[in-house]
Amino acid sequence: NLLIQPWIPQNDLLADSRIKLFVTHGGFNSMMESVYHAKPVIVFPFVHDQTGLASYAERHNYGVEMDFGNWEVDELTNNIIRVLNNKTFKESIKRSSDILRDRKTSAAERVSDAINHVMKYGDEHLKSGASDLYWFQFIMFDIFFVLV
Ligand SMILES: *[C@@H]1O[C@H](CO)[C@@H](O)[C@H](O)[C@H]1NC(C)=O
Repeated sequence: NLLIQPWIPQNDLLADSRIKLFVTHGGFNSMMESVYHAKPVIVFPFVHDQTGLASYAERHNYGVEMDFGNWEVDELTNNIIRVLNNKTFKESIKRSSDILRDRKTSAAERVSDAINHVMKYGDEHLKSGASDLYWFQFIMFDIFFVLV
């Protein structure tokens, strides 16, 4: 029962109600999309923020973290069964999803409001003072140079 494709729109797939669980590498976008669509996860982190996000997911009962360098088929199967059968995982990620989605306005309305605001008042007042700094000031190189 595998469908292998060169590319699929992950966010649209996660939005499908037939998807019950997501086996992922735990990248930031994947984790945000999992939370948004309230899909419990099994995370095989590889690098960067993935390891931290995988532990976060496990700590917050969004799912289970596994070690890609050291795993057995039985372990994956058992974790899939565990995550699907234990309501804690679905309930925990659903609560985070509800928190994430709890906004008075939609993303489209917020973008529309921001565009209207800039059309009305321009954008000078929105620019950060950081854009006036030299690069070495921006990364605080001058401060560290003095400290060292
Ligand atoms: C469900 O999973 C949670 C989180 O791992 C655990 O604390 C709880 O004991 C599990 N419940 C059952 C009935 O196995």
